[in-house]
Amino acid sequence: MDISDSVKYVGVDDNSIDLFEGQFEVPLGMSYNSYVVIDEKTAVMDSVDANFGEEWLSKVESALGGRKADYLVVQHMEMDHSSNVLAFAEKYPDAKIVASKVAFTMMKNMFGTDFPGRQIVAAEGSELKLGKKTLAFIAAPNVHWPEVVMTAIKEDGILFSADAFGKFGAYGAEEPEGWSCEARRYYFGIVGKFGANVQSVMEKIKPLGIGTICPLHGPVLTGNDAVEAVRLYGIWSSYEAESDGVAVFYTSVYGHTKKAAESLAEKLRARGCPKVALNDLAREDPFECVEDAFRYGKLVLASTTYNGGVFPAMREFIERLCERGFRNRTIAFVENGSWAPAAARTMASLLEGCKDITIIGEKATIKISPTAETDSMLDAIADAMTK
Ligand code: FEO
Repeated sequence: MDISDSVKYVGVDDNSIDLFEGQFEVPLGMSYNSYVVIDEKTAVMDSVDANFGEEWLSKVESALGGRKADYLVVQHMEMDHSSNVLAFAEKYPDAKIVASKVAFTMMKNMFGTDFPGRQIVAAEGSELKLGKKTLAFIAAPNVHWPEVVMTAIKEDGILFSADAFGKFGAYGAEEPEGWSCEARRYYFGIVGKFGANVQSVMEKIKPLGIGTICPLHGPVLTGNDAVEAVRLYGIWSSYEAESDGVAVFYTSVYGHTKKAAESLAEKLRARGCPKVALNDLAREDPFECVEDAFRYGKLVLASTTYNGGVFPAMREFIERLCERGFRNRTIAFVENGSWAPAAARTMASLLEGCKDITIIGEKATIKISPTAETDSMLDAIADAMTK
């Protein structure tokens, strides 16, 4: 597949994977993207997952059309992209390996060699002339690992963006909800902690006039799709709310807390809340829940008291948020406790390390089953969340 007159796609799809990176459900499969740049010299951009080495090498060979590979650019050393670097280096013994200094250290750890005599270090601002085209390297530390570089073809406004702008799903998988749905779950699941790093890279790529984005996962983005992806990354990396509405997350053992959460959702809708996202933390995909927490500016956390604290699914959810730099949100608590409610206090303490969290005072405490009194507490939360 041709991306431009000089860039060919040589990625692969994994349609049998169950969990990406051992934890993310990927019902639409997963793509591992790689590209070949053809000019007076040729450059291959990244490799693919270990299970697809032969398929990838065969695609690279075909894209090269009988020419030799001059460079392999290793933008990211995570194994879904770097597993076949050694096999490539053996197949193309004259090819130089282009990567950041940190990436070469990782190669030594991974392969037992850092390819002495074949190294070209891709440092911030360094360039590699292929002929008519020039590869310009942009350091992108922690997007997603510390060794990451992105690469632009200066003359064409094409950006090889490493993990950034990637998404779950095989290449070209049908997306009823559009690119942003699985891209958002991917971003907050994998890159969300590194918002400041993403912002810094976004500033660096602004002047490059990028019109085509070639990520390591998901589709190549062009035209308005590329513009929209950059706009969303600006919001996501700043931890601002993307959508107007309230996300309600609950855990419930015997259904009483669920009933309260559903009642609160109704009250929010009745007050004109533009969107209410209701999530059962024990049953929903955990990273759909993480995505919703970052998407909306207002959250309600409703949980059973458990072992003198909070129900495990709620504890894990809050920990997932905190690990990802969660901040800048308004939160209300609903707690249930049969004799000594402690969930609200525990949830507040779990969130203590998060910046710019406003906890609204209208807490609702249920003792086993919702009552008229707790109903008016839920009214107070709904009022505070919609005023
Ligand atoms: Fe797609 Fe961070 O690897």
